[in-house]
Amino acid sequence: MSELRSPPGTFDVLPPESARWEALVATFARVVESAGYGLILTPTFEDIAVFKRVGESTDVVRKEMYDFEDKGGRHVALRPEVTASVARAYIQHRPALPWKTWYAGSNFRYERPQAGRYREFRQVGIEAFGTDDADVDVEVVALGWEFYKQLGINRIELQLNSLGDSTCRPGYRELLLAYLRERRDDLCDDHKARLEENPLRVLDCKKPACREVVNGAPLQIDHLCDDCSAHFERVKRGLGALGIAYTISPLLVRGLDYYTRTTFEYTGLALDSAQNGIGGGGRYDGLVGAMGGPETPAVGFALGVDRTLLAATAEDVTGPLDARPAVDVFVVDFAGGDAARDLTAELRKAGVRADRAFDGRSPKAQFKAADRSGARLALVVGPDEAAAGVVAIKDLQAGGDQSQVELGGVVEEVLRQLGK
Ligand code: HAM
Repeated sequence: MSELRSPPGTFDVLPPESARWEALVATFARVVESAGYGLILTPTFEDIAVFKRVGESTDVVRKEMYDFEDKGGRHVALRPEVTASVARAYIQHRPALPWKTWYAGSNFRYERPQAGRYREFRQVGIEAFGTDDADVDVEVVALGWEFYKQLGINRIELQLNSLGDSTCRPGYRELLLAYLRERRDDLCDDHKARLEENPLRVLDCKKPACREVVNGAPLQIDHLCDDCSAHFERVKRGLGALGIAYTISPLLVRGLDYYTRTTFEYTGLALDSAQNGIGGGGRYDGLVGAMGGPETPAVGFALGVDRTLLAATAEDVTGPLDARPAVDVFVVDFAGGDAARDLTAELRKAGVRADRAFDGRSPKAQFKAADRSGARLALVVGPDEAAAGVVAIKDLQAGGDQSQVELGGVVEEVLRQLGK
């Protein structure tokens, strides 16, 4: 039998590397919960109809969906993103507005795997439902920015655009279409064939042929209606007031079709340009209505966990993502094992991360395991200590400094030495 391996485009995250994931999500939770966002959990798979609305003309829906018929004959899909699931949950439960949620979890897109592009990848994100106030756009963008700051990631460019709304987008779409029709022969093959379906996609196309044509195309930000224009101005003013630098990117249309007005992306400048989109989002005032719910404005973002960690590595950041040992204390017991059993239990109850060796290993092997664990302190119980009812405390990091305490006072002394 050939060796079993994880599927292409997926990967395992083992300890200690996994501690970075925990730290990232904990930091994200702290930042967004400080602004009143509450955790939402939704299923990892949904009826395929939930995801159709993110855009029939997008690669995500056309080519990348992990969809299948389940044993009950239902057509379901592994979620390619979370926004549509949150909108579905909103329509189903109708929580009071404004409704602010955050999430962390896996998404699935059948893409060609490469560094920074996976078939199962993780996102953290937030969604705010129920207000079209431009200040909530500012809040959302600023929370993503603050999160990166707290991780110590600084080399980020924030790209900002407005895609208009149902008042001004249709007119702009016609303008763009007229411009592109005249140049259809110069477009890449894909867009030559699919121009009428969604001309905005051309703006985003990475192929040199399309890029050339797009140079000189009419831009949505030059054709916003008064309301969209005022909204965009307020967003820009708000970001300015909070000291958040941004670049206006009139060609930013993003890969999903539900966006209206504000759209944005965080670009990791330390990453290779092919996969440097570390997060993005925007307003989607029409999605809930299009999914059969009441017209409800909304705005949010999702950040790629995998790419954010790649950016952190590329920038060599220090902060919450720094490696930390799995335990603080390691109990070395070569007097029968009772002390190891009882002391680790007591320490854990007191909130101290503690480990031990098993299998009655030799003192030498146990000290080696203590060193490997990264623990600050070793508690040592040999036959002499056991007979005297004491424990030796060895500081494994301060040159092996050693002291001795009565068995009954160990936990207190450990807490003191760890500064807890
Ligand atoms: P998205 O731009 O499709 O937006 O994905 C957000 C982030 O997920 C990307 O910037 C990227 O970092 C990461 N990502 C996407 N695909 C992959 C992949 N195959 N491998 C690794 N990372 C990936 C959304 O998903 C929207 N739901 C964002 C949103 C929330 N808009 C409004 N609310």
